Amino acid sequence: MIEAEWWDYDSVDELADAVAGDVGFIIESALDARDSALIAVPGGSTPVPIFANLTKAKMNWRKVTVVPTDDRLVPVENDLSNAKLLARSFLPSGARVIPIATSIDDYKLAGNSADARLQDLPWPPDLVWLGMGKDGHTASIFAGPDLQDALDAPKARRAVGVMPDPLPPEAPVARVTLTRAAILSARTILVTITGQDKRDLLEQAIADGHSSKLPIGRVLAEAEQPIDIHWCP
Ligand code: 6PG
Repeated sequence: MIEAEWWDYDSVDELADAVAGDVGFIIESALDARDSALIAVPGGSTPVPIFANLTKAKMNWRKVTVVPTDDRLVPVENDLSNAKLLARSFLPSGARVIPIATSIDDYKLAGNSADARLQDLPWPPDLVWLGMGKDGHTASIFAGPDLQDALDAPKARRAVGVMPDPLPPEAPVARVTLTRAAILSARTILVTITGQDKRDLLEQAIADGHSSKLPIGRVLAEAEQPIDIHWCP
């Protein structure tokens, strides 16, 4: 049974303020303990105000590495790129941003191991922060032919390439995503979602666990750590 703790807020601003504080605390704790921090954060729209609040915090950002939980396989100059969003959000603070793979060629160059860059990082991450789509995907673990690859990839694989089917209209391109094992290796996992529809969907996914039809349910069902879920209407 997934051990989920819900944190409810009245507005996106309240959620953004609280989650920025929580993520800042996780980073500071990692810096105190290991003199470095590695966080994996999602793309999408929900995180944007949180990033803005978080990067106002005074901390030794030069010792913080930020990676996307997933990306679209497009060049970093492309507006669909999560690496571009993270670079814009975190580089001004002095943090290091490491893209996973940014194109099919990049992915192939890495010997089809989409996680070549992640292999050089001190794993596990201090935080994996997840969003959820209205179809129940998380990171870029979507229903479709590649779902099982992303769920069952061995611990040594930190990311895999996937082709969602159907392609999500907001970004109809191939993707790369942290695997379930990579997500669950994190010291801390938190989820941010907005709206009642997503809340109902996530509550159902948590209740269904391993038998969930939703990728996020299949991912979180194996979690050994408690999951903090931050929600606002
Ligand atoms: C992506 C994101 C994706 C996102 C959800 C929720 O690359 O699209 O990583 O998994 O977290 O789609 O997006 P919103 O926060 O915009 O609803």
